[in-house]
Amino acid sequence: MPGEPKRLEHPKSVYLIGFIFKIITLTVFIAVIYQITFSPHGPAVLVPIKEKIEESQRSAILEEVRRQEEYEKHRHFHNVVEYPQLPENMRPVCYICHSDYPHAKNKKVRAMLNMHTQFFVCETCHIEDKKDVDVVYRWYNPFNENPPGPFFGTAYDPETGNLQEVEDQFSKISPFFKSGDKLNSAIQIQDSDLAQDYVKVRDQLTPEQRDNVKKKFHVNIKPKGHECKVCHSRKGLLEYKELGFAKNRTIDLEQLNIKGMVTKYEKFYIPNLFGE
Ligand code: HEC
Ligand code: HEC
Ligand code: HEC
Repeated sequence: MPGEPKRLEHPKSVYLIGFIFKIITLTVFIAVIYQITFSPHGPAVLVPIKEKIEESQRSAILEEVRRQEEYEKHRHFHNVVEYPQLPENMRPVCYICHSDYPHAKNKKVRAMLNMHTQFFVCETCHIEDKKDVDVVYRWYNPFNENPPGPFFGTAYDPETGNLQEVEDQFSKISPFFKSGDKLNSAIQIQDSDLAQDYVKVRDQLTPEQRDNVKKKFHVNIKPKGHECKVCHSRKGLLEYKELGFAKNRTIDLEQLNIKGMVTKYEKFYIPNLFGE
């Protein structure tokens, strides 16, 4: 209608203040929900459910990795966990120069890789791929040529859902060269005296000299080990059935269907692992 004053818009500041109040209301709302459901200071009505879910997905190996990452952060590299150790003269020579926690460079995966050395010999991941040579993977035990198993991590305890306890503490998955029906160990038998010697004098050697020693001990060793996907996928490197892994355990390992894995390793290290 003519003459009537035009309807005025609210000033911009009103919207701003309104917005701020909405944020505050939302924050209070979220805080109240948290207080009721999960907060240790409230009735914690959802905590039992969360614990149940976590319980059913617990992985001893992953917990170990977490503990190790924690220790590494605080630089206590050694003696993290008490594992039964082989007598000095039976340990693979790699450990003389590389220590029990050989992976250090890549912070994202080092604890995970070091963890795998509890059930693999180094060569399982570091052996050079060669044409014309068939490599098969079997459990290797330095005290027993034909270890009967059951082996660590191959099955779940049906009652607890955790990995089954086993007596065999020393067997590790290891590569063998196949020639006809015979399997020959691909673990390098090497001169540990020479390696000990090297450790004593390495600070006095030039980079070239060090490199020469390294070459001598690195026959068939490739600098980067296999990536996760080489084994954690269907039709991967390892024949899980041959190695005695139970069906349900095999599926979990192939899909790496384990809580905490997806976010952590997919994003940072192995972009395609969980695709397909
Ligand atoms: C005599 C000492 C010695 C022994 C034994 C030894 N290494 Fe090494 N290794 C070295 C040196 C030196 C390097 C170079 C990096 C460094 O200075 O730490 C190295 C580096 C590596 C690397 C990183 C890539 C590269 O080539 O620089 C891998 C992987 C490796 N070693 C695996 C092994 C494995 C597996 C064994 C056992 C079969 C082994 N090493 C035995 C001395 C040794
Ligand atoms: C589960 C597979 C796996 C096993 C088992 C394994 N490695 Fe590795 N290793 C890798 C991968 C993958 C890399 C490359 C890591 C990166 O930098 O991304 C690597 C890198 C290395 C490096 C150089 C980089 C670093 O992290 O300092 C050394 C040295 C090494 N390995 C030594 C060893 C020794 C010694 C053993 C046996 C005690 C061993 N590895 C067993 C997978 C493995
Ligand atoms: C050479 C094959 C191989 C490679 C490479 C490998 N894994 Fe594994 N991984 C295995 C096997 C086999 C097991 C189970 C061993 C056992 O329990 O006896 C395992 C166990 C695990 C577990 C523990 C599963 C559980 O139930 O607790 C996690 C997590 C894992 N691997 C993640 C990784 C990641 C991440 C990488 C890459 C950084 C990787 N793996 C590389 C073969 C491999």
